[in-house]
Amino acid sequence: MSSPFPVEKIRADFPILKGNNRGKPLAYLDNAASSQKPKCVIDSLSNFYENTNSNVHRGTYELAEKAENEYTQARSLIANWFSVNPEELVFVRGTTEALNLVANSFGQSILNQGDSIILTEMEHHANIVPWQLTAERTGARILTTPVLPDGSLDLDVLYSHLQEPRSKILSLCHVSNTLGTTNPLPSIIKEAKEHGVKVVIDGAQSAPHYRIDLRSLDCDFFAFSGHKTFGPMGIGILYGKSEHLHNMAPWQGGGDMIEEVSFDGSSFAPPPQRFEAGTPNVADAIGLAEAFRYLSEIDLPSASLHEGLLLENARAGLQSIEGFIEHGTTSDKAAVLSFSIDGIHPHDLATLLDGEGIATRTGHHCCQPLMKKLGVEATARASFAMYNTMDESERLVSAVRKAVSVLR
Ligand code: ALA
Repeated sequence: MSSPFPVEKIRADFPILKGNNRGKPLAYLDNAASSQKPKCVIDSLSNFYENTNSNVHRGTYELAEKAENEYTQARSLIANWFSVNPEELVFVRGTTEALNLVANSFGQSILNQGDSIILTEMEHHANIVPWQLTAERTGARILTTPVLPDGSLDLDVLYSHLQEPRSKILSLCHVSNTLGTTNPLPSIIKEAKEHGVKVVIDGAQSAPHYRIDLRSLDCDFFAFSGHKTFGPMGIGILYGKSEHLHNMAPWQGGGDMIEEVSFDGSSFAPPPQRFEAGTPNVADAIGLAEAFRYLSEIDLPSASLHEGLLLENARAGLQSIEGFIEHGTTSDKAAVLSFSIDGIHPHDLATLLDGEGIATRTGHHCCQPLMKKLGVEATARASFAMYNTMDESERLVSAVRKAVSVLR
C-alpha cells in the first residue's frame, strides 16, 4: 500500500522524528496522547524568550507592548482558524482545565436539583469527573449514552435522553481517543438545540486533524489542548459562545480578571479576561498560534486520507494474527487503532514494541468506564498523525507479530 501524501516533506519539519528510540529509528505512534512539534513552533518559543519575554496587561515599556501585541495576535489567529471571535476564546492549560471551567462555572449556574447532564460511555475521565463533581454540588444527575459494539454511539438512547425535560447539558467527545469513533456532531447538536440542551464538545482528538468551523458547528462550548495540535504543552483553548461567557461567573480569582477590587466586593473584567486569572501562558499561546499557522499551509483533508491509509494498512496486517480484536470499527473512524490480542497483556506488547523503536500506548487511556464496557482492563493503542509513514505502519505490524511469537 502506498500513499500520495508528501509525508517526507512534512517529516523534515519535525526535528524529533529524526531521532532514535532504544537505538532504533523512532516510529512515533502515540499521537492521540501528544503530538510532536514542528521546528517553527519550537523556534517561536525560543524567539519569545530571547526577544519578547515580559508580562502582559501591565507593563508600560516597549517589550511589554510587544508581548501584549503578540499575545493578542495569537488569540486572533486561532479565532480565525476556528471562524469565531477572539473574545470567545479563553486560554487555558488544556482540555481538562477547559472542561473543568465549563462544568464549574456554566454547569453550576444552569443546573438545579434533578436536572440531567448527558455524557457517553466513550468519554475521557476529563469529560466525566468534572461533571460528577458538579452533579454532586448541584444535585443534578448524570445520564450515560451507551456505546454500540462497533464503537458508535447509541443515538436512539442519546436522543431519548435529549427529549427528557430536565436534560440541560450534553457533553461529549468529537472523536474518541480510544475507539477513534467520530461522532456525528451536526445531527446531534441539531437535535440537542431542538430540546434546548446546551452542547459541550471535547475536541482534543479532532482539533489536530480537521479544520473545524465552530460557527457553523454551532456547539455552545468546544475544548482542546495545544500539545495534541502540534503546539506546546500547557496551553489549550476553551471556546464559548459569547452569550454564555458574558453570563458566566469567574471560576478562578486573581490578577488580570478583575475590573475593580475592594473589601466591599470586586467586579470582573469582560470575557475572555474574566476567565484568565493570573499571568497568562504567553509564550505557549504564541506557540499554539504558530502551530495553526503551520497547519494552515497543510492540506488537512489529504493528511487525514493519508492517516486513514496507515490505519487500514496496520489493521490489514494485524488482522491475520490469531486472537486480534480491534476496538472501534466504524467505517469513518479517525486513525486510532486500539486492540487486544488474546492471551497477551498489552503492557508486555508495548514493552517489546518499545525495544523495536515503536512508541505506542497501553492502558485504560483515561477511559475506565469504556474499558468496563469493552470487558478489558487495558488495550494497546497506535495512533497516527500526518507525519507517520507507511514504513512505520509496516514496522508496527512486523513488531507486533514478532512480539506475539515471543510472548505466546
Ligand atoms: N488523553 C491522552 C490519551 O488519550 C493522554 O492518551
